Amino acid sequence: MGDQMTSQNFLPQGRKEIQKSPFLPPLTKGERSTHVQNTYHRSHGIASPFEKGGVRGICSEAALAVLLLLCGPAAVAFAASGDNAFTPTNIFVPFSTPAHAIYQNASLVLTICAAIFLVVGGLLAYSIFRFRRRPEHENLEPPQVYGSNQIELAWTVIPILIVIVITLATTRTIYDVQGALPPPGTVNVTVVGHQWWWEIRYPDLGIVTANELHVPVTESGNRRPTFLKLESADVAHSFWVPQLAGKTDLIPNRRNQMWIEPTQPGTYVGNCAEYCGLQHARMLLRVVAHAPNDFQNWVAAQKQPPVDDPQLRAGRDAFFSTSCINCHVIKGTRANGQFGPDLTHLMSRETIGAGVVPNTAENLRAWVRDPQHIKPGALMPNMQLSDGELDQMVAYLSSLR
Ligand code: CUA
Repeated sequence: MGDQMTSQNFLPQGRKEIQKSPFLPPLTKGERSTHVQNTYHRSHGIASPFEKGGVRGICSEAALAVLLLLCGPAAVAFAASGDNAFTPTNIFVPFSTPAHAIYQNASLVLTICAAIFLVVGGLLAYSIFRFRRRPEHENLEPPQVYGSNQIELAWTVIPILIVIVITLATTRTIYDVQGALPPPGTVNVTVVGHQWWWEIRYPDLGIVTANELHVPVTESGNRRPTFLKLESADVAHSFWVPQLAGKTDLIPNRRNQMWIEPTQPGTYVGNCAEYCGLQHARMLLRVVAHAPNDFQNWVAAQKQPPVDDPQLRAGRDAFFSTSCINCHVIKGTRANGQFGPDLTHLMSRETIGAGVVPNTAENLRAWVRDPQHIKPGALMPNMQLSDGELDQMVAYLSSLR
């Protein structure tokens, strides 16, 4: 055993016969690849332990494939069948023209991918079962097939055709959504992203509000889409109301554009979809789609001057004596700061702090007392008001309907 350091020590018994074969070069330590071992075993008509391991690996992959086969369509079906009340951000339940176009394209791609998955997974499962290892095959070598023009042509041409179909369909959808021109009756809105709220301006109507975008619905034949110009006052944000359209970023020093066209009245919710700092997750968005007459009523109410109740003078004076007016607008007054939300019709909005809490007098009081307590990191400071000042100021703000 003086020559024990040769490669023979690392190989199964019978190895020497290969070395003696005139058709095979002598093996060295570096050639102990799986291929060589398999060649050795095949040439001796016995199963290779390496192949066995491979088959076991494929079996567990097949189990996983079968599991995915069952779970994939189930997940899609679950997502598509959900009750809209419980899934208000479900992209499979579109309520707007561009969202519908995207949904149709996504459905086509998902269907094609599901079909590919079923065919490939089915063939894989069939092959694993049909050609599984059996005792009677223990000493047989399967036919070795190298190259088949038909098969190679098929698996080259079919995927190319599938890619062409998906490309054409997607290109048409992109053209329909991004290339659309505003028809007559379009509402123009500028949305400005702020940390962490949405400024919403209607330049043609002279209205400024926050966090809640009010739009008309398109009814049969009467198109009333809303075209949005998207800007940012600070960092990148992203406007996303899944049931109305895809997401589009709001980027500083740039103006992006998108449009929505709700087809059913209702409130659609969304959120900022681009990480923008501490309160990114609480930069929520509501789109209220009104029947055309209701929209006109909303516009008329928003155009009204702010309420000025003489009985609330003390609260008004408290508000105007603080630096609140440096950040907020109350139309027609000297409160004309541009940093925070316009308060002219504060109480017409459903929430405070971009969807953080419902807009009630109680929550408004808690918010003014200490915004950081409700929304840590919010850029509105604690004004250190006394309880008396707080009551008066909230009474005044609550009158701004
Ligand atoms: Cu704004 Cu994330």
